[in-house]
Amino acid sequence: MRRPLVAGNWKMNGSSETAQDLVAGIRKGVEAGLPADIAICPPFVYLTQVGGLLDGSDIALGGQNASQHESGAYTGEVAPAMLVDVGCEYVILGHSERRSYYGEDDVLVAEKVVAAHAAGLKPILCVGETLEEREADRTEAVVASQLDALLESDDGLAALQNGVIAYEPVWAIGTGKTATPQQAQDVHAFIRQRVAAKDADLGAEIRILYGGSVKGNNAAELFAMADIDGGLIGGASLQAEEFLRICRAAI
Ligand code: PGA
Repeated sequence: MRRPLVAGNWKMNGSSETAQDLVAGIRKGVEAGLPADIAICPPFVYLTQVGGLLDGSDIALGGQNASQHESGAYTGEVAPAMLVDVGCEYVILGHSERRSYYGEDDVLVAEKVVAAHAAGLKPILCVGETLEEREADRTEAVVASQLDALLESDDGLAALQNGVIAYEPVWAIGTGKTATPQQAQDVHAFIRQRVAAKDADLGAEIRILYGGSVKGNNAAELFAMADIDGGLIGGASLQAEEFLRICRAAI
């Protein structure tokens, strides 16, 4: 059985003060114990603070990005080993905002996933199509090429053994337009089959999260689908009660 994962992607939001309140609220609600994994991915500068606030809880810490390089003269970048150093277990890679605003392509994202895995992180690889691509009936082709950048190399396949895939249709991110459970399930099943074609065990075991306007009131129906193993949550992860409702739906 795949254990569900709900990961909160705070993106570039908050302050040390709001981080403190948000983590306190989430911790209070999670103390009872949930049969799901939970992770919080704050901006880099708050990782150490949030890591400290999560001490003694089962909630994991994650980064929102990492360099493909180990160390060196890369001004403004953060190495995967640094994320491990401050207590991260996960790192989100290839988020559509990174792809579209910062020019990250499939090859670079694959390099980052491999580097993150080598440093001991669990990469959360994000894939997903734009509205234009969906309307042109290219969803599967786009997602396939994003996946194949990893599936076609031994290093990439090895990195996914410890990884998670997040299907995030770009048209659903931050728009309030959630994919229907069936739309999401269809793509999740496609992703799982594509992974399974390379490695049957990995296909059966890898967790595939849905992301894109997941809220407390739509999480349960999405998470009930056979190939949806939790969610990557943006806006709704900034409110403790809303995030907790989503976490509770992931069982
Ligand atoms: P959203 O973002 O939940 O605000 O749509 C999801 C994401 O970008 O990971």
